[in-house]
Amino acid sequence: MVEEGPLPVTGDIDLAGLYTTLKRVFREAGLPTPDLDARLLVIETLGVSTAQLIANPRLPISEELARELNERARLRLSGQSIGRILGRRAFWSLDLRLNRDTLEPRPETETVVELALSLLPAVETPLLIADLGVGTGAILLAILSERLNAFGIGIDIAEGALREAERNAERHNLADRAVFAIGNFGAPLAPVFDMVVSNPPYVATATIADLDPVVRDHDPRLALDGGEDGLDCYRTVFSQASGMLKPGGTLIVEIDPAARDAVIAVAEARGLSVAAVADDLNGDARAVAFRFA
Ligand SMILES: C[S@@+](CC[C@H](N)C(=O)[O-])C[C@H]1O[C@@H](n2cnc3c(N)ncnc32)[C@H](O)[C@@H]1O
Repeated sequence: MVEEGPLPVTGDIDLAGLYTTLKRVFREAGLPTPDLDARLLVIETLGVSTAQLIANPRLPISEELARELNERARLRLSGQSIGRILGRRAFWSLDLRLNRDTLEPRPETETVVELALSLLPAVETPLLIADLGVGTGAILLAILSERLNAFGIGIDIAEGALREAERNAERHNLADRAVFAIGNFGAPLAPVFDMVVSNPPYVATATIADLDPVVRDHDPRLALDGGEDGLDCYRTVFSQASGMLKPGGTLIVEIDPAARDAVIAVAEARGLSVAAVADDLNGDARAVAFRFA
């Protein structure tokens, strides 16, 4: 039994009717991007293209599909993101599947990918990359998709995340250059990597309760909780760095812009020096590259 939702699901239902109603409902609910959310839900649920939304407004929609759209609209209104509802999210040029053990990849994390691509040596010989806390595989798979001589290992402590990362690698034909393994960040690794990347959990435990419910209630806690001051995982990763990087290798981490100086201090205390800082689209420092002097 589908719970009552915001859309008409019986009678003469057509594409334009559902789309227009959904946009209005999402606007009235104060969602930040109501029209985009409505379009994505309609396209994905009803299996139509954006062009059809304009060219074929009177397309009849079955009651079954209308009910499914209704249910998804209800989930959006209850605070789930479109990515969580659809179980997938675009990142870089990739369409990545999510599950309950994976963080939903964020656009700002693409800053890590950009910085990594700009700092990888311009060689044709194989490059080895490790992604610590790999989640859906977002950072590692984006880098591998751009550099055909790159090979990678993705580490995560959550088995469910590793399974999804593996499937995402297969979907994007990158599985022959990526392996995935369980571990505590870099603990299982040897010093063979040209580059190590990580977007570790970095929310201070006490502030998790104050996060936007879309994040707090749907992203896994393991992907968010960075300990008392939010820096625990950086301490671990920076302490492991010398056991992972080749001489001259680069370590890149995503940061909360507000924690920039604190993260750099933790790294410098372990012998690492800043090689580059990259800003996200808001102009905030989001990725920092380190090397050993
Ligand atoms: C912020 S998420 C980043 C996910 C992905 N790399 C991305 O950028 O979308 C952090 C990831 O670290 C993983 N993680 C948490 N603690 C870990 C640990 N001790 N060792 C390895 N991975 C860990 C979480 O399961 C989660 O997948």
